[in-house]
Amino acid sequence: MIKESFVIEGLAGKKSLKGEIRVGGAKNAALPAMASAFLFKGEIKLENVPDIEDVKRMFELLEELGVLVRKNPKNLSLDAKNAKKTELPKEISKKMRASIILTGPMLARFGQVSFPHPGGCLIGERPIDIFLEGFKKMGATVKETDSIYKVEAKNKKLKAAEIFFKIQSVTATETFLMAALLAEGKTVLRNCALEPEVTSLAEFLVSAGARIDGIGTSTLTIEGGELLNPPHAPYVTIPDRIEAGCFLILGALCASDLEISNCHPKNLLALIEPLKNAGVPLEIKENSILIKNNGKIQNEKFKSFNIKTHEYPGFPTDLQAPAVVFLTQASGESSVFETIFEGRLNYTSDLVKMGADIKIWDAHRGSVKGATLLKGKELEGPDIRAGLAFIIAALAARGRSVISNVYFIDRGYEKIEKRLKAIGAKIKRATIIFP
Ligand code: EPZ
Repeated sequence: MIKESFVIEGLAGKKSLKGEIRVGGAKNAALPAMASAFLFKGEIKLENVPDIEDVKRMFELLEELGVLVRKNPKNLSLDAKNAKKTELPKEISKKMRASIILTGPMLARFGQVSFPHPGGCLIGERPIDIFLEGFKKMGATVKETDSIYKVEAKNKKLKAAEIFFKIQSVTATETFLMAALLAEGKTVLRNCALEPEVTSLAEFLVSAGARIDGIGTSTLTIEGGELLNPPHAPYVTIPDRIEAGCFLILGALCASDLEISNCHPKNLLALIEPLKNAGVPLEIKENSILIKNNGKIQNEKFKSFNIKTHEYPGFPTDLQAPAVVFLTQASGESSVFETIFEGRLNYTSDLVKMGADIKIWDAHRGSVKGATLLKGKELEGPDIRAGLAFIIAALAARGRSVISNVYFIDRGYEKIEKRLKAIGAKIKRATIIFP
């Protein structure tokens, strides 16, 4: 079988990467901002949009739905003026859970929307009950036939509602924030997700005249109304805090001096603090993080720390896998508690094959003993975030690794091999024939 792969030569613990690595726009901010096109009378502009596979899929979805999409490397223009379709295309929507964000603004604009069940995935079950309950609260009916949900608002207009999210859900908060803007009356959303991507979306909508109170808190109050006028200023995608976190871990393990530029360290304190306590030499600036004189003392190991994933501002589940790679290289035993998704420790079996000492106790809990020498192996990227964690592990390891399933990595990270090469990593993209 032929598979596109990354071939990586490990540094065997040497800290030889150096230079500057720039953080791109956040996937999870760009996707909801793209979905917001349905809330506007005319064309909106988005900047600093990462050139990644998930953005391309959202782009294709919008085009299929009749949105006029123009792209000029990292800048997008989206105009939903002539969009009429209300069915999300099955193929793409099923492959990308984030497609569900479209349901809120589409339902609010057209009074109906149908979409496939986005399905579970390797990181967990990923139910959609919060969405379905919320739509009903806003006066819509939900019918399910052959795994396609058809949601219809009474008289084609959603009604404002008081919604308490039983779990803080990033995508559900964004979906109902957008739906409420075109509903009749004042909606109150409680137990909202606090992730910076939610705040960034809300601030953009406010810049277009939306009336939203409580931005940055767990209660959002939204005044419903008509379609919004596009704002003069474009939406500028915030830096990807997860990408920044991955580069930070990579730098801690493999770089002597590294500048992680164009990031917002204040959104990443849940990782920065434990890394500092572990002994990683970090200098924090407003928009960059410097790793300086790392690895000066030969064979000195960082101290391990425990991880418990949590909604923002807690430790992000999307950084759990890269942080576990760090812990395999730190001295001591640490516990890992993945509280958000139940399949998100599965990737650890591959780290164990590389030589890591990791025990998994149940679907949510494990422990890591370090420091262990990792050896290069053939690995398959299981999801976006664990995929990049494998690249970090392969660079820290001794010997050559081949990581296939690069599509998952390309879903979330732009031209990763080019950017890592620029700081000295030996990584190349190759088409490999597997027996
Ligand atoms: C967002 O997913 C991110 N995706 C994920 O990043 C991230 O891992 C996750 O938030 C948690 O931070 C995007 O922003 C596009 P949730 P989301 O709804 O919104 C449960 C990546 O690689 N839940 O906040 O889908 C759910 O099962 C991705 O970029 C329900 O029970 O996650 C989970 O346990 C992966 N019912 C918890 O809520 C529902 O109807 C939080 O998930 C919805 C969610």
